[in-house]
Amino acid sequence: MTAKKIFIKSFGCQMNEYDSNRIVDLMTDSSGYIKTNSAEDADLVILNTCSIRDKAQQKVYSELGRIRTLKEQRPGMKIAVGGCVASQEGSKIIERAPYVDVVFGPQTLHRLPDMLDKCKTCHHSQVDVSFPGIEKFDYMPEPHKNGSAAFISIMEGCSKFCTYCVVPYTRGQELSRPVADVLRDVKSLAEQGVCEITLLGQNVNAYEGELPDGDEIDFAMLLELIAAIDGIERIRFMTSHPTNFTPRLINAYRTIPKIVSHVHLPVQSGSDHVLELMKRGYTTEQYLSIIRGLREARPDICITSDFIVGFPGETEEDFEATMKLIDECRFDASFSFVFSPRPGTPAADMPDSTPQEVKLERLQKLQKVNDAQALRISEAMVGSIQRVLVTGASKKGEGMLAARTDNNRVVNFEGPLDLLGKMVQVKITDVRVHTLGGTLINKEKDFN
Ligand code: SAH
Ligand code: SF4
Ligand code: F3S
Repeated sequence: MTAKKIFIKSFGCQMNEYDSNRIVDLMTDSSGYIKTNSAEDADLVILNTCSIRDKAQQKVYSELGRIRTLKEQRPGMKIAVGGCVASQEGSKIIERAPYVDVVFGPQTLHRLPDMLDKCKTCHHSQVDVSFPGIEKFDYMPEPHKNGSAAFISIMEGCSKFCTYCVVPYTRGQELSRPVADVLRDVKSLAEQGVCEITLLGQNVNAYEGELPDGDEIDFAMLLELIAAIDGIERIRFMTSHPTNFTPRLINAYRTIPKIVSHVHLPVQSGSDHVLELMKRGYTTEQYLSIIRGLREARPDICITSDFIVGFPGETEEDFEATMKLIDECRFDASFSFVFSPRPGTPAADMPDSTPQEVKLERLQKLQKVNDAQALRISEAMVGSIQRVLVTGASKKGEGMLAARTDNNRVVNFEGPLDLLGKMVQVKITDVRVHTLGGTLINKEKDFN
């Protein structure tokens, strides 16, 4: 019998992509599936959905229509919808698209094999978008290495309830994974040759864990424990929240060199009035104080952020305050979005008199300034020596390698293929459109 094939498409954030990879691991280990990159020859098609903004949600329904035609041509094909749209819509998905076999949520993805079995025996669609705590990790296989950089979820959900956001409703409340489980996963990946770890969660710095002796630990302490694991050379995390950015965490940038010189710290707006309407829980001054602390602890740190423009009630002055903050913080390439009203969130009902075209103009203005800042950061890197992780052969030509810097830039340089997956030092020589050029200085074993 030939193995059944699974195709999965992610629509969302890094957590969503991480979940997709874990779903593939689970189906491979538990049910003998193999992964395919085309929906056309798949026996199981999974859409892992996102509902953060209107556009993301619309994409799911148009994709479902396309998959329906495939299913008609391929009887026996199963369709499953997971992720945040599934979580919000539940059985409404089946009403709208009766050809869907399984609907599961971000916290019930481990139940997918059972739900598919049930679907086969009872011949009707299965829906489970409940929040059964953090049990899913207990049902997951050991993480599989896929390259020298890996992701690990350390906490799930969010309890912040920013007034515009669906995540607390779709992913449930903030729950940290036990320290021992996180460390076991990191060790297992390190033993498989992984040297870069990205810790994932909606607010990783709200992490709370307990050591075997009952002592409580915070995110800064977790970073120390991970940095002490042999083989781990570089640590990233996504996303951190300003309200949980403690002085201890800032100090970690001084004491733990393995933490990259990059932090993604979403600010959303530079106006205190808007921040309050968003219920973000900090002022611009408090945000700036974190940035000052970080720059003092790690002078070469790059800071990226997320912005929402056109939040209900945002005036021209509020927007100018955001532009001023962008100027002061000198952010690296960031993400910015026009506010999208999400059904069921408080901000969707707030009075909003700003025309959409004004919001789009603000977005363009913000992105232009941010792009220019990112280019200046790239240019300032010329002449510097960067520690990079070699990720593959470069498309730039034979004998060329591609690697990634701390601040997420791709550098192309000449070097032997046996450096793949290793940390090396390169000197940055030039800035190209989306990448940097460099020359190899040192292989990992020659420097410390
Ligand atoms: N937990 C993270 C981010 C989660 S969502 C944090 O608090 O920063 C990623 C980004 O999507 C957010 O930072 C925000 O900029 C954007 N976003 C979330 N909801 C949105 C909405 N309703 N409209 C527009 N952008 C939104
Ligand atoms: Fe959404 Fe706010 Fe939670 Fe981020 S912190 S996931 S923006 S509710
Ligand atoms: Fe989207 Fe859910 Fe992530 S709404 S951004 S997939 S947490």
